[in-house]
Amino acid sequence: MLYIIPFIGAIALFFAFSFFKRSLAKQKILKEINEEAPPTPKEQKSFFLKVKNLSGRVFDMEANPDDTGEQLINKIAEKYQYSSTHIVRLVHKKEPNGAYLLRDKTIKEQNLKSGDEIFVVFEERIGDFGIGNFPGSHILEDFDNYTPSSEEVSQLIRDVYVEHGYEPFQADKSQESEEVPYRLVPDLLTKDQRETLMKYLNERYKGENDLKFKLTPEELISLIGKSAFEKMQEAYGTSVDEIWLRRAQMDGMEHQGINWHVDHSTRTMQVALNGDSEYKGGKLLFAYKGKIIAPERLPGTATIHDHRLVHGVTPLKSSPRFGLFFLHLPK
Ligand SMILES: [Fe+2]
Repeated sequence: MLYIIPFIGAIALFFAFSFFKRSLAKQKILKEINEEAPPTPKEQKSFFLKVKNLSGRVFDMEANPDDTGEQLINKIAEKYQYSSTHIVRLVHKKEPNGAYLLRDKTIKEQNLKSGDEIFVVFEERIGDFGIGNFPGSHILEDFDNYTPSSEEVSQLIRDVYVEHGYEPFQADKSQESEEVPYRLVPDLLTKDQRETLMKYLNERYKGENDLKFKLTPEELISLIGKSAFEKMQEAYGTSVDEIWLRRAQMDGMEHQGINWHVDHSTRTMQVALNGDSEYKGGKLLFAYKGKIIAPERLPGTATIHDHRLVHGVTPLKSSPRFGLFFLHLPK
């Protein structure tokens, strides 16, 4: 029987070796699986910002907390097909003050949280139509029936300044100035000159709600004559960087005014080519020293205001409304 002992030993050794080999193979497979497996995903938090522009539209925008302010500007520009060079700044609306987003710091470093609202300030030449979700929009919408208190107007001015990235004290300072930040110049264009410009706009009109385009001084001179142009330049009182023509027609559309804002242009002259009585709504309003001022814009009258003055336009209800603009841009 003794001969059986080495035999059992050999079988035991064989099984022990097989087990060891299988265990090694199993470890190798596990190692390979571990190497190929993706790392444990970090907790991915959706980070959404509410991007708002002057016309009151609000878009949800997915962002990365590690994006810099500059990268965020480019993403917004790409997604909404704005030209990033025309975005002056992003304003992070925090109560009570707004704050510029710095271009070279990440949005995480600037304490933005998911759901926060970002306001896009453009190198706005002449504001876009479309009212909504903006400080004081009810004053524009209900201008004919509602007179706000002086406190409400002062708060509106502060809110608009904050939305545009200024400090509230700058709003208050703009109200203390002795110099009135607007003036009216009647009869700057004759009936013939206005009609020539409206005809020029109508010839280019292809159904747009808001047709606006630039003119060179030479083009304007060819339409209204040199002396009329010089008269306009003299009234304007500073160099003209851009000249725009505009034809707005909002038939059947609601809420088509221009939200309260301050201009990028340091001085803006608007000449009414047709008068307030020729369309319904579309009134230019200034908010100044606790009051809402509606300058009477007879045909050919120019309003000249500077970039400190908060202004807006009531919804345009019947149309068209024609205007000519002179702008002086910040250097
Ligand atoms: Fe404006």
